[in-house]
Amino acid sequence: MFLHGTSRVNEQGHLEIGGVDVVELAKTYGTPLYIYDVALIRARARAFKEAFRRHGVRAQVAYASKAFSSIAMVQLAAEEGLSLDVVSGGELYTALAAGFPPERIHFHGNNKSWGELAMALEHGIGCIVADNFYELELIENLAESSGRTVPILLRVTPGVEAHTHDYILTGQEDSKFGFDLHNGQADEAFRRVRASAAFQLLGVHCHIGSQIFETAGFVLAAQKVFAKLAEWNKAHGFVPAVVNLGGGFGIRYTEEDDPIPVEAYVDCIVEEVKKQAAACGLPLPEIWIEPGRSLVGDAGTTIYTIGSRKEVPNVRTYIAVDGGMSDNIRPALYGAKYEAVLANRMFGERTEIVSIAGKCCESGDMLIWDIALPEAKPGDYLAVFCTGAYGYSMANNYNRLPRPAVVFVENGEAQLVVKRETYEDLIQYDLPLKTKVKK
Ligand code: LLP
Repeated sequence: MFLHGTSRVNEQGHLEIGGVDVVELAKTYGTPLYIYDVALIRARARAFKEAFRRHGVRAQVAYASKAFSSIAMVQLAAEEGLSLDVVSGGELYTALAAGFPPERIHFHGNNKSWGELAMALEHGIGCIVADNFYELELIENLAESSGRTVPILLRVTPGVEAHTHDYILTGQEDSKFGFDLHNGQADEAFRRVRASAAFQLLGVHCHIGSQIFETAGFVLAAQKVFAKLAEWNKAHGFVPAVVNLGGGFGIRYTEEDDPIPVEAYVDCIVEEVKKQAAACGLPLPEIWIEPGRSLVGDAGTTIYTIGSRKEVPNVRTYIAVDGGMSDNIRPALYGAKYEAVLANRMFGERTEIVSIAGKCCESGDMLIWDIALPEAKPGDYLAVFCTGAYGYSMANNYNRLPRPAVVFVENGEAQLVVKRETYEDLIQYDLPLKTKVKK
């Protein structure tokens, strides 16, 4: 059985998460419903932090809030002593509204607006991860008008692109993010930043991809970054206080996925950074990472109610649920694969192969192809695992489906942390037509 964290099967044959019966949750809060196993999120956060502590190095583990941003989630990240990566005014606003310590917020993005940067500066956030020359200009102007010095990291593109099972070297990286390390852009950015009193250059940042299952890409990225830092040190005496190697640590969505434990990523990153810093004659910088998926991905489960069934003789059987690409766009967008069970019949024998369809008006709205399940009837509950990252955060109102609620469960207790949208919510910003047609 494919169970994560505190998930188990109870005496009634129901799926239980965080000591709470999922069928009860579905009845209380309705479906579709996102359920987060808080203990699992805490365990992951602690595993990352503990791994750095064991090495005795200074580090920050910044939760990439794009994976799932809400007031309660940000507060949980704060409780666990994480830092926070935000990529927009909206994520920043959420963090500030949640009372997250501004000095532990890092602001990302390839097109931050004047307004977003002004908001970040006004609240004294920890650092801005500067992405391009236009942004440097905006920050400089803002800093001058407010008399502030702005702590920044330069986001560099190391020419390493990691995929799930491998990594490639792309010489001149074709990416919309960051300053290229190889074509002189990173050097130019470094010169500009160092020449201006507006900036306090803390160090560099890079992020090589997502759902990465091996360490080689991180090692390679660290090598590239340090080669540049060594040059800057030699030529300009620059000593980096921080090296941020981004996120992207893989998780197990299906049996086919075989991720390494979070400690293994940290061990490899710390060892390589130590080695590189020593080789370059640099003091060991603070090491920052930005996990999103690996903190919340497998802690999230989505519960749906099963509705219609369509049998196409000799082809396949479609089972439809009351959500779909509106609450999980990843299968449609990336061909992402998921595991699922009937949450109210966990002991049921998996006697048929079916495909799980969403309810959106689009043939591509399929959640899972060809999964073995007990014979599903209308009213059964389908639990889809590992939907905690980029599920709710990429949810949308296609076909005017209201976005689901989110519940946190821990130690036998459930807590609603995001309310379900209502039909009234859906039309709240709509304004009536000013009719020009005479009656
Ligand atoms: N840091 C930076 C700069 C990033 O761009 C990202 C993800 C992360 C950290 C966190 O990566 P993670 O640890 O979560 O893999 N919507 C896609 C994922 C997009 C990732 C964007 N950047 C998905 O559903 O798979």
